[in-house]
Amino acid sequence: MYDISGSDSSLCEMKSWSDQNEEEKVTSICQNVKQYFVFTEEELNVFEAHVDDIVRNAESGAYKNSTVDRTPLRNKYFFGEGYTYGSQMQEKGPGMERLYPIGSVDPIPSWIQEILIKPLIKANVIPENFVNSIAINDYQPGGCIVSHIDPPHIFDRPIVSLSLFSDSALCFGCKFYFKPIRCSKPVLKLDLPRGVVTTLSDFAANEITHCVRPQDVQSRRAVIVLRRVLPFAPRLSESNTSLVNTTINSYSDPLRILDQLSGRLFMKFYKTYSKNYKHKTTFGGVLKHYCIKKNTPKSYSD
Ligand code: OGA
Ligand code: MN
Repeated sequence: MYDISGSDSSLCEMKSWSDQNEEEKVTSICQNVKQYFVFTEEELNVFEAHVDDIVRNAESGAYKNSTVDRTPLRNKYFFGEGYTYGSQMQEKGPGMERLYPIGSVDPIPSWIQEILIKPLIKANVIPENFVNSIAINDYQPGGCIVSHIDPPHIFDRPIVSLSLFSDSALCFGCKFYFKPIRCSKPVLKLDLPRGVVTTLSDFAANEITHCVRPQDVQSRRAVIVLRRVLPFAPRLSESNTSLVNTTINSYSDPLRILDQLSGRLFMKFYKTYSKNYKHKTTFGGVLKHYCIKKNTPKSYSD
């Protein structure tokens, strides 16, 4: 295993070092991104064959409705847990994402557990019993994911991903414009070669947006995103109309909840989400306490 993270910025294309602010951002991103090569060429081929199986299963209607989300240039598959995002949200905006009711998406396929998650645990990339949610994005050439922060009230950190099929790049701090789709110069462009495992934490996950630009998907590319849904993440009820705000997920760890509730990270996450919570008590009031009005939220539309 080769760690290409941290101060080694060989994969980082910098914007302008003369801008102190930008420079600090670049440093903070690089400090909080790790990249690893854990898998052999043969193993990558096996993963890609499995992703192709998933695509075929979805086409034949083998999955639950919420497992599959099709858009013209990017299909998404959720396993273990799925959530509402972007235009699917009944109430839009950062902080409004919701887990689907328990059992709405298919379980994590056993191959992901056996040949992907276990080796990542062995390689110390993720702790044991961390991953309870898988998202697979399958991008066609020109496909993209607009600038966003993975919702911090839904997902623990780090955010872990495995890139497949072709080389791409993850850009930080881009502003997107539409019709036609285009985006501003990134604060940092991180290469995502086929096979790379990338983890985002702290600043890189919470304080700056990331995206995959259309120009960085030259041929079909897929990513397997491995995440941990937080035990207190808000969830839609069966009817999809109201919140079950007291559900503690089965894999919850009480100490971890306390940790999160009292921790600085928790405060940090919710600073940027505060605008949305100003008049809401969707977490049974728990959050009111933490909702300090703060800076303009970034773009979170995915
Ligand atoms: C995501 C994401 C990046 C990628 O699905 O949240 O940021 O590498 N994906 O495709
Ligand atoms: Mn993301």
